[in-house]
Amino acid sequence: MKQNTYRPMDWIDQELAALDRQGLCRRLATRSSRQAARVTIDGRELVNFGSNDYLALAADPRLADAAAAAAEQEGWGSGASPLISGHGRSHERLEERLAEFEGTQAALVFSTGFAANAGTIAALVGPGDVVFTDRKNHASLLDGCRLSRADVRVNAHGDYEHLEQSLSKAAKYRRRLIVTDSLFSMDGDLAPLCELADLAERHAAMLMIDEAHATGVFGPLGRGVAEHLGVEERVHVRVGTLSKALGSMGGFVAGSRSLIDWLVNRARPYVFSTAPPAAVAAAAVAALDIAGNEPQRRTGLLARADVLRRRLAEQGWNVGKSASQIIPVIVGRPERAVELAAALGERGLFVPAIRPPSVPEGEACLRISLTCAHTQEMAEQLTEALGQLG
Ligand SMILES: Cc1ncc(COP(=O)(O)O)c(C=O)c1O
Repeated sequence: MKQNTYRPMDWIDQELAALDRQGLCRRLATRSSRQAARVTIDGRELVNFGSNDYLALAADPRLADAAAAAAEQEGWGSGASPLISGHGRSHERLEERLAEFEGTQAALVFSTGFAANAGTIAALVGPGDVVFTDRKNHASLLDGCRLSRADVRVNAHGDYEHLEQSLSKAAKYRRRLIVTDSLFSMDGDLAPLCELADLAERHAAMLMIDEAHATGVFGPLGRGVAEHLGVEERVHVRVGTLSKALGSMGGFVAGSRSLIDWLVNRARPYVFSTAPPAAVAAAAVAALDIAGNEPQRRTGLLARADVLRRRLAEQGWNVGKSASQIIPVIVGRPERAVELAAALGERGLFVPAIRPPSVPEGEACLRISLTCAHTQEMAEQLTEALGQLG
């Protein structure tokens, strides 16, 4: 009998085996507790330095209560994309609250921050335009650049001289767009937004920033790095997430009324995707209220992060240019990062090892992310453990 040799999916097992050999294969672990400073992952109780729940709102009962009330009133699913019939009272309320929180004319909610970034870039530029992006921008920004079919210019992380040179050769394009993370998600460093705003103005470019890790954390009102650096008025497009410090789910764009009207018409992940459940929007409104009323969450968090960063640097760890609640311990080889993460796990500490492609080759790290729920003792436990492993 003729053997069937048609096995078009075999390449996947081969590629997975290759990833395994390089120490780059990722596997899911399962958390069986709430998201919090102390979690149970794969049956082990650990102090959790691996969430973006910076203001410790993900398991706050006020969010769950708001979600339950909205689900009770409006039902669970939204049933359609926003432009059809998916946009409910809770979505409208959230967008009004976000515009108020951000101090902008309007805001628009997407199902995820990823969708907000990718959809917004592709709505702002296209063939005949050019977009400038930092190499360490989040994948959603980089994918948005590719999706847009505009010409893409990538500069090395923080190489703003190169960016200026590229901008000076870009006058021929119809539109120019500079996109950047405001707080880089793996390195924890801040983009120099004043300098970027200068460059944008000198070269007649639009400036779009992704405040995903800064919303709720930076700035006197928690609006993000643009507020912290006093450049809000000079940034044309501000993206944030509801899924990190705000403990909920979704992404948003804040800006002028006309920007939002344009995105409603042209941002494909907004137009062609079902609106998030009303309960998700209601939880995000509750989170905005808490973030506004309890500023000590963010000030305490940033103060504790300063201390931890200093202590780790004193121990000789390379914490890069972190200036935030995200503190990388850069070790270089992926195997070393995995080894350290395992050794910390044995000491009851969860700190994820971050490997390529999430970081460039040679920059594997432990990514420590602090939340306002971490106690002084927890931070000391981590410093002590890293002190022993150094
Ligand atoms: C810098 C940055 N932007 C955007 C996103 C995407 O946000 P979301 O998780 O809401 O899709 C992330 C998520 O990891 C991020 O780190």
